[in-house]
Amino acid sequence: MEFSIKSKNPEKQESACVVVGVFESGKLTTAAGAIDKSSNHYLSDVIRHGDMNGKAGSTTLLRDVPGTACQRVLLVGLGKEKEFREKEYGAAIRTAVKFLKDTGATDAALFLTEIPVKKKSVAWRIRQAVIITRETLYRFDQFKSQKNNEFLLKRIDLAVDRKTKPVIAEEALAQGQAIAEGVALARTLGDLPGNICTPAYLADTAKRIAADHALECEVLERSDMESLGMHSLLSVAKGSHQPPKLIVLHYKGGKANDKPVVLVGKGITFDTGGISLKPGEGMDEMKFDMCGAASVLGTIKAAALMQLPLNLTVIVPSVENMPGGNASKPGDIVTSLSGQTIEILNTDAEGRLILCDALTYAERFHPTAVVDIATLTGACVIALGHVASGLFANDDDFAAELLAMGSEAGDRAWHLPLWDDYQDQLKSNFADMANIGGRPAGSVTAACFLSRFAKKFTWAHLDIAGTAWKSGAEKGATGRPVALLTHFLLNRAGKLEN
Ligand code: BES
Ligand code: MN
Ligand code: ZN
Repeated sequence: MEFSIKSKNPEKQESACVVVGVFESGKLTTAAGAIDKSSNHYLSDVIRHGDMNGKAGSTTLLRDVPGTACQRVLLVGLGKEKEFREKEYGAAIRTAVKFLKDTGATDAALFLTEIPVKKKSVAWRIRQAVIITRETLYRFDQFKSQKNNEFLLKRIDLAVDRKTKPVIAEEALAQGQAIAEGVALARTLGDLPGNICTPAYLADTAKRIAADHALECEVLERSDMESLGMHSLLSVAKGSHQPPKLIVLHYKGGKANDKPVVLVGKGITFDTGGISLKPGEGMDEMKFDMCGAASVLGTIKAAALMQLPLNLTVIVPSVENMPGGNASKPGDIVTSLSGQTIEILNTDAEGRLILCDALTYAERFHPTAVVDIATLTGACVIALGHVASGLFANDDDFAAELLAMGSEAGDRAWHLPLWDDYQDQLKSNFADMANIGGRPAGSVTAACFLSRFAKKFTWAHLDIAGTAWKSGAEKGATGRPVALLTHFLLNRAGKLEN
């Protein structure tokens, strides 16, 4: 999809479709008002006759409206003006794009981007419009014999009023495109099945990203990890025929001695549970257990596309968790890269076993901050559902920063506690710690486990078990939390105009 910024009167816009909003009271937005005026109150008549009631989600398509230069005018209902906030804005964009993709229009001029949203800037409206448009048009049909038809819609002009500085709108557009690109990559990797998206596939993907964007890439093989002493990570790989990989990517947009932000993404390309085998129902969804990895790869791609002036390192421990004759067994004890020993009481709590070694590995990059992203616990789905990702941190200011960026991005997280009181649940009779802490507060004890490997830096952990993908009829990866992470980086780079 091609996007461009336009500041032109809506009635003069030569376009296949001009999209304008109408509130529930029948009140016209500025752009709708301009068309109404030039068309001798055509829109007012449509509303008066009950053909558009302004309810959120409603649409009315008009052709050959007098006094306009466009072929069609699409009216989009916005709901009550007083309640028109971030979420409603996003919903209006989504409604418009869903409608447009099924019309004959090859291009459209979206005037919804001119509608004020409380406390949000023009830059925010443009970024969100691009991200949401691309999200709405995403398709994953590479394994369907019958491909979907190509969209006729090829170009969207985003309207801004004349007061808006063009550079601001253009920069927001570029950021939106980059973020959307990162989200799409994360979704595609998530949607790929486990027989294709293996640890080796993720490593190849990382190498491709590195080649496309001039990043440094290093992939540690099993033997490298053995020499280093990453026995916790390696213990998860024992049941699988797929060799494990530890993927490292460096983006260097900052000064040579700027400390990097390090992102660590859980890359279990399929989680059967291992010897602590999961029940069969819905197990296919465990192909999404690499969505943390997908999100950090998407994020570094977006950072490179935006050429952010900062240094970013991404680490992806990637393993397939399978049962097998050589697989780890409950009760096995391993020594992690940190030297701490772990009693594996449940082989299905494997995410923390690969992440702990990756976190210790992160120390060598002297990070300014580390965030790990993982589909870590079913308990997080119970706690927060599919709305917010769970956020844990060893620094409250850092947690607040990430929460704020999640809200800015419309990709929210919620802060959960990491109090010492929970650490006791990880006690083991035979090793330094157990890898599970029992049923109560399962997400917290998982985070507590990780915290023991994150003592040397500012660290946060995002549990995306409930947010990384959707189940049911709309089953598929969401690309979350690429939006949160990219906004965090934009903010760190001083590039977030809001
Ligand atoms: N990948 C799963 C977590 C998960 C489960 C995410 C369901 C989304 C939906 C993780 O590896 C796991 O199996 N966790 C266990 C931990 C338990 C054994 C302590 C869980 O949540 O049941
Ligand atoms: Mn598991
Ligand atoms: Zn898992």
